[in-house]
Amino acid sequence: MSLMKFINWKKSAILIGAVVSASFVQAADTDKIPGWKSYSGDEQVEFKVDSLLSMMTLDEKIGQMNQYSANFAPTGEVADNQSGLYLKKGMIGSTFNAFGAENVRMLQEQNMKYSRLKIPMLFAADVIHGLETTFPIPLAEACSWNLDLMERTARAAAEEATASGVAWNFAPMIDMSFDPRWGRVMEGAGEDVFLGTEVARARVKGFQGIENPSDLSQNNTLIATAKHFVGYGAAQAGRDYNSTDISEQQLHETYFPPFQAAIEEGVGSFMTSFNDLNGVPATANKYLYKNILRDSWNFNGLVVTDYTAILELIAHGYAQDLKHGAQLALEAGIDMDMISEAFVAHLKALVEEGKISEGQIDVAVARILEMKFLLGLFDDPYRYCDAMREQEVLMNDKFVDLALEAAQESMVLLKNDHNVLPLKKEEAKKVALIGPFINERESLNGEWAIKGDRSKSVTVKEGLDAKYKKSKVKFTYAKGTDLPLIDPVTQKVAVAEPSEEGFAAAVEAAEKSDVVLVAMGENYHWSGEAASRSDITLPGNQRALLKALKKTGKPIVLVLFNGRPLDLSWEAENVDAIVEAWYPGLMAGNAVADIISGDYNPSAKLVMTFPRNVGQVPIFYNQKNTGRPFNDQAPADYRSNYIDVANTPLYAFGHGLSYTNFEYSNLQLSESAFSKGGSIEASIDITNTGDMDGEEIVQLYIHDKVASVTRPVKELKAFEKIALKKGERRQVKFTIDEEMIAFIGLDKEKIVEAGEFELWISKSSDDQSQYATFSFQ
Ligand code: NOJ
Repeated sequence: MSLMKFINWKKSAILIGAVVSASFVQAADTDKIPGWKSYSGDEQVEFKVDSLLSMMTLDEKIGQMNQYSANFAPTGEVADNQSGLYLKKGMIGSTFNAFGAENVRMLQEQNMKYSRLKIPMLFAADVIHGLETTFPIPLAEACSWNLDLMERTARAAAEEATASGVAWNFAPMIDMSFDPRWGRVMEGAGEDVFLGTEVARARVKGFQGIENPSDLSQNNTLIATAKHFVGYGAAQAGRDYNSTDISEQQLHETYFPPFQAAIEEGVGSFMTSFNDLNGVPATANKYLYKNILRDSWNFNGLVVTDYTAILELIAHGYAQDLKHGAQLALEAGIDMDMISEAFVAHLKALVEEGKISEGQIDVAVARILEMKFLLGLFDDPYRYCDAMREQEVLMNDKFVDLALEAAQESMVLLKNDHNVLPLKKEEAKKVALIGPFINERESLNGEWAIKGDRSKSVTVKEGLDAKYKKSKVKFTYAKGTDLPLIDPVTQKVAVAEPSEEGFAAAVEAAEKSDVVLVAMGENYHWSGEAASRSDITLPGNQRALLKALKKTGKPIVLVLFNGRPLDLSWEAENVDAIVEAWYPGLMAGNAVADIISGDYNPSAKLVMTFPRNVGQVPIFYNQKNTGRPFNDQAPADYRSNYIDVANTPLYAFGHGLSYTNFEYSNLQLSESAFSKGGSIEASIDITNTGDMDGEEIVQLYIHDKVASVTRPVKELKAFEKIALKKGERRQVKFTIDEEMIAFIGLDKEKIVEAGEFELWISKSSDDQSQYATFSFQ
């Protein structure tokens, strides 16, 4: 610790007052809090935490464990509501959903006024894909497979958030999920655990500081939250909040790794998940929080519940009442209660009744206080409230440029028959722009665009008009139909379907054009939290409109805006090109125009499988073989298949086209075998054989043929994104080592077994062309 900082700390200790200072000095001799291991391992910080804790009353300690949404001082005056009353007692440790340097300063001032020991409040928020500068939704951004880009957008989000008062981010969401019905797949990184783990690392680093994520001392870094621990994405039937049943093997193989990686990168906090996991709700799950997180992974950061999750233990049928819930959650190892008021209302009585000990509370409070010290809040409670910095940082040009770059790299070209795309500026063409997303603005940011001003996002029409202004391409426009909405009362899709009145004008516009560009998708409320769907086709009558347009015989380019893989079986058969644009954020229209015109050559690849229909769900590339695998080439009875649809997906994990062609050839292994401590080099030649420069995501998959725990048919183990000029050839090399062939054994430890392995280096998970085998002895 620098001398300056220590002096600052002393100053604030002196401010607390003479009596308190005396106990502070005395506290210097006390032992560390039994059962508490610090996150930082910094003795000076431990000393401060220990000292401060020894001065606190039980009420003050419990208050630190209490988190509210920011409604206690809406106008500067402390409200007469429940949270306002707790504030006046100095009993709120953290608040979320407050933004703006001045606003947060005002709330912090109120807190400092009422906190006897001047303990600053920790301000949190869900900054999922940007604060004001809205980047593409996380699922989209993951399709860039560009970890550096993801680090940079997370960094930008952290820069904006910390300038706006926020020091704790409820992101990244690193839940694995295989179910496109679940609306929250939009927040994650798709279905692959290897990629998901790398993305988790990138986002934690971006939020907490790329150089040294564990150092939270700068005022532009914040605490990231690994959420939701764990299994939330396995919600049965894809219905949000639903129960989960996941084998221990699956937890270790698939659901845990992104969280372990987040810890390795220094993540400061975890959030519980809403789901019942194997009979015990995650929020009170001792196995998860005590055995795994604390004891096995040595995580010493802060754990917060999800919103009202302790209260929900009652509905789960796990807690008798809120008091019982408080006890169960604390015993499981939870430090902070979001919204339930379970801790603040009941922990004191539980201590008095001897059901829990004050020592258990001390451990939780120590974790909370440590974070506040590390963030520098005791040195200056207003260090994230600099209005000047806020003005400079929010939506600055650099971030806006980054939003465009991220949107371009996120859009997946799913199909492009006869090279209908790009629509070149120099070719005289009449293009009919049709569909509810041509002029749509509000939905472009997608869900969780927490402060992204929806009125600022660039529409498709605006982007195209600007791009083709001085070109020979001429547009006509007909909306055709509307997006169906969700009824705010029933929370279901509105019963009244959008009308077909606009179809005729759309068909007429199409008939008069050379190409039809259709922009369709889901209203943004159709994905995200509490937005599960049982039918994942295009909502409303959009497909009907496409069918009407199809009859004109004109080439159709479909640009899609949605937050989940959709069932595009009809569209894939019947339109000529499909661009999956997801929800691209602020620069949506510009990025679409760059792709449509070919000014940007699409490079993204899917991170989640697109099924042929919802009945195939869950469908993912790294499934296990059955004892009766089905072979399309040689169909046979009594095999694992459907009688009404193929086993294969519509668009596989890793699929994504470019306007150029990449040829893969000459896969070679340096050796055909390796042994402990050794490795093999795999190399492949990639040639850009098309007419444009482009980028390609080269993917390496491995299959372990025989193992003591059966292995998936293939697993992604490495990838590299390369840029190739037209005509350029590059050799890409990967090192195959023990880590690449390791897996979780039956005793839940990582093991490596001797045997035969298959390997593919390919452009997609369903591309088998470049294949080799090797063995490990
Ligand atoms: C509920 C969501 O599940 C969680 O992800 C979020 O952080 C909290 N609400 C707070 O907004």
